[in-house]
Amino acid sequence: MFSYVFMKILEGRPRSYDRRMDKASRGRVGEIKASVVKEVPQDAAVLEIGCGTGELAAMLIGRGAVVDAFDASPAMVEFVRERIAEEGLDTRLTVRHMGVDGMDSLPSSHYDAVVSTLVFSELTADERGYALKYAARVLKPGGQLVIADEVVPRKAAARILQRAVRAPMLAATYLVSRASTRPIADLAGEVAEAGFHIDKEVRSHGDAFALVKATLPAR
Ligand SMILES: C[S@@+](CC[C@H](N)C(=O)[O-])C[C@H]1O[C@@H](n2cnc3c(N)ncnc32)[C@H](O)[C@@H]1O
Repeated sequence: MFSYVFMKILEGRPRSYDRRMDKASRGRVGEIKASVVKEVPQDAAVLEIGCGTGELAAMLIGRGAVVDAFDASPAMVEFVRERIAEEGLDTRLTVRHMGVDGMDSLPSSHYDAVVSTLVFSELTADERGYALKYAARVLKPGGQLVIADEVVPRKAAARILQRAVRAPMLAATYLVSRASTRPIADLAGEVAEAGFHIDKEVRSHGDAFALVKATLPAR
């Protein structure tokens, strides 16, 4: 369940990323994305933060969404551009090479939903705060925010297990990628702090994974 740590290594290989992530997580990453898709209204205008290979965007498009996506990795963005061309998605999907620090360039009150999977655990606390502030800015009033990511379990025993299992994986990952991921201590709390109403927080994978769905209150 803590194999998400390896995602930093797999991210360097967009062509095999989804297949390897699905294998490393024993199918859970696919399930997580499916559960995010279910929370997004059909035919929505969606912003995806850190789209990776565009797998989630493609699933949303399958439900009528139009998706603007961005990612900080040039290799991922290049892969998504190829995907758009190959799959004829140019009227449904746009992708920008951009980090969350570029979110101030996005249009205000424009999107029905903002989504993100397995990205917030790669961000610093400041970056998460910035991303959430601008997620609130770009959503229409009443719009939905859906984030799924690795979090710190609530029970001490599960936290100890998480640390013990992650430590060797983190070391191996850091040696290869010079980067790591951090489970988030209070994802729902950070979302609420940014002015959202929390609709639900669903924990899974031994309490170490959370899907947070929140609504931007009408102003
Ligand atoms: C583990 S991958 C997840 C990709 C995709 N969301 C998924 O679930 O398959 C994390 C992604 O976040 C992107 N990322 C990391 N830091 C970012 C940042 N500051 N701004 C935008 N994207 C970022 C990475 O380039 C990578 O594509």
